[in-house]
Amino acid sequence: MKKVSQIILSKYSPLMSVDTTLIGSDGKEIKTPRVNSLCRCGESKYKPHCDGTHATIGFDGTREDSEKAKPEVYEGKEITIVFDRYLCMGAGYCGELESVFGTHEKPIYEPDGASPEEIIATIKKCPSGALSYILNGKHEKDYFETTQIVVEQNGPLHCQGEITLIDDQESDKVLPGCDHFTLCRCGDSKKKPVCDGSHLDNGFTG
Ligand code: FES
Repeated sequence: MKKVSQIILSKYSPLMSVDTTLIGSDGKEIKTPRVNSLCRCGESKYKPHCDGTHATIGFDGTREDSEKAKPEVYEGKEITIVFDRYLCMGAGYCGELESVFGTHEKPIYEPDGASPEEIIATIKKCPSGALSYILNGKHEKDYFETTQIVVEQNGPLHCQGEITLIDDQESDKVLPGCDHFTLCRCGDSKKKPVCDGSHLDNGFTG
């Protein structure tokens, strides 16, 4: 029977990963038990693993999705860009195609600003799942053939492939059905559990 990779989210606890493959920032697999606790308070001495510090510092990982809104849809002649602001971690790859996405300071969404091929290639670099596209009537948002969690050095967890995120408080899946998203592990995101880019400003290391 095919294993189902899961991440279980608890309010005051680390991320519990079940049947996932963990890849370190050096690209090598980190051997873990079937059920494994991953730090999300940012203070563990054994990152990416939890060492229990969250309990001593009063970490509160309450879900912060009050700002969650419907994804924005920008329709072009050939391709439609879909942007889910809540998921965005500000990785900045979209800025490489300035005629379509503008700059960090002045973002735009201009689906006719480049060829569909260029837009698709740029969207596929977005690690958070914030950007996706509609082509020929089909909403394309799943790109990963390998299921794994990649630890970004000094950054979030990159969840890729068939991973289900479950909120054990509400018995509900908390993220939309795309096959990649980024989870905060510095403890400072204002959009927990997803990364909002705060790690870039708070000196997080690990
Ligand atoms: S890892 Fe915490 S905001 Fe990115």
